[in-house]
Amino acid sequence: MPRKRLEGRVALITGAARGIGKAFAQRYLAEGAKVIIADIDFDSATNTASVLGEDCIALSLDVTDQISINRCISDSVSQMGRIDILINNAALFTASPFVDITRIDYERVFSVNLAGTMFMMQAAAKHMIERGQGGKIINMASQAGRRGEALVAVYCATKAAIISLTQSAGLDLIKHGINVNAISPGVVDGEHWDDVDAFFANYEGLQLGEKKTQVGDGVPYGRMGIAEDLTGMAVFLATPDADYIVAQTYNVDGGQWMS
Ligand SMILES: NC(=O)c1ccc[n+]([C@@H]2O[C@H](COP(=O)([O-])OP(=O)(O)OC[C@H]3O[C@@H](n4cnc5c(N)ncnc54)[C@H](O)[C@@H]3O)[C@@H](O)[C@H]2O)c1
Repeated sequence: MPRKRLEGRVALITGAARGIGKAFAQRYLAEGAKVIIADIDFDSATNTASVLGEDCIALSLDVTDQISINRCISDSVSQMGRIDILINNAALFTASPFVDITRIDYERVFSVNLAGTMFMMQAAAKHMIERGQGGKIINMASQAGRRGEALVAVYCATKAAIISLTQSAGLDLIKHGINVNAISPGVVDGEHWDDVDAFFANYEGLQLGEKKTQVGDGVPYGRMGIAEDLTGMAVFLATPDADYIVAQTYNVDGGQWMS
């Protein structure tokens, strides 16, 4: 029986009702962690938690709302005892021609992706500092944060900023034994990419599914990613094996980006 690498740890994962966050939750549970699934879609979060088992709870969280963030941290601590690991996974995607970007959409996406990541990190770090036993924070960046894309300016900018936030927070928090690092996926199939595919089908006159085939063919590994391709890195960054890793962003993208 292989050793469980996260035995006794408590992980709070935002946006884990579905997609990549759900896969993280499932893998963390398999590695012995207790998991809090925190999502704005509380019904889906509750459903996911009930499917994943008894070491998992669902909490309602809107990462754009400071009261909701504070309540999520205090409910996590009161129900699970503490938070050892935070994964900032919740995000919105948006795409449009540059000249059509609206201020409302810009603010909506920045509020979830960037301010959400920033203030979740801050709230979890305060708890971790108070406990005095360090912690692990993992942010979700993207290959979209490594370079701009013609139709994806706002989303790309939020992900580039997350790489920067990971660096600054990582450098400041390591003195408390808190490692802040990020994962940069490439193209990962799932509900999120169903929406992206539909956008490009409409915008470029493609058949549904055609954009996924195109991007999959362009990945050096030979296919789009699946959520499970990312879970090994999420486990590794949460273990003591990653104690000396500070403020880094790791590409887990089938060879899409090199840095
Ligand atoms: N799928 C990809 O190809 C891909 C590529 C690179 C990076 N990423 C990143 O990985 C992460 C997960 O992606 P995914 O494909 O699983 O996305 P997804 O859209 O399937 O899931 C996002 C989750 O976040 C939740 N959420 C949205 N707004 C929220 C809010 N205000 N507060 C709390 N929760 C909220 C949603 O309800 C949903 O459950 C995201 O950060 C995304 O940017 C994804």
